[in-house]
Amino acid sequence: MIEIESGSPKLKIHGWFPTLVGLSMYQDHHKEAPAIIKHLQKVKPKCPPSRGAPSFFLHSCHKDPKLKKLNQWIQARVDDYTKFYGFPKKCKPVESWFHCYKKSNDNPVHVHLGRTISIIYYLQSHPDDSRVILYSPTPVDMRNPFNITANDAKEDLKNHLTSTECFYKPLEGMLLIFRSYVHHGTELKMNNFKDRILISWDLK
Ligand SMILES: [Fe+2]
Repeated sequence: MIEIESGSPKLKIHGWFPTLVGLSMYQDHHKEAPAIIKHLQKVKPKCPPSRGAPSFFLHSCHKDPKLKKLNQWIQARVDDYTKFYGFPKKCKPVESWFHCYKKSNDNPVHVHLGRTISIIYYLQSHPDDSRVILYSPTPVDMRNPFNITANDAKEDLKNHLTSTECFYKPLEGMLLIFRSYVHHGTELKMNNFKDRILISWDLK
């Protein structure tokens, strides 16, 4: 439970739900990323053809010895995350891949079925490139208490706990850890920034 300042001395707010996102910055990112990016560019032609997004390359990054130090660091942060949740067993990666987003690429909203935790690690990106969007797992509030209209989503009335979505800028060296049932996707890349390259794992 997280106690949150309500704005009223007569009311306490306890934050229990709806989801938790882990964030960490890899201190050795700038030292290791150039060699990893070079390596993944070489791996690309050996990846099976993508059935979906052109940016997608199926490759077992979590088993790749060239990424050993980064992988160990990611696993340690996931362990921190599951420890916070209180899961009795550690989550281990079952599948991983990387994305190389070019102009006009995006990743539509999806979940990772059959997984417990998913991660994103940004290897290369401009901070103003397309953001990742995470959607609240809370069911849609059909009572419409914010009185949303077709022309006004009333975003100014919502806070970080009552919003239905959140956005993260793609920062190099940033790891995001989230529950695999959380719907997520990316904004369309409509800029001429360098390719946005990220690694993703699924764990259970
Ligand atoms: Fe995903």
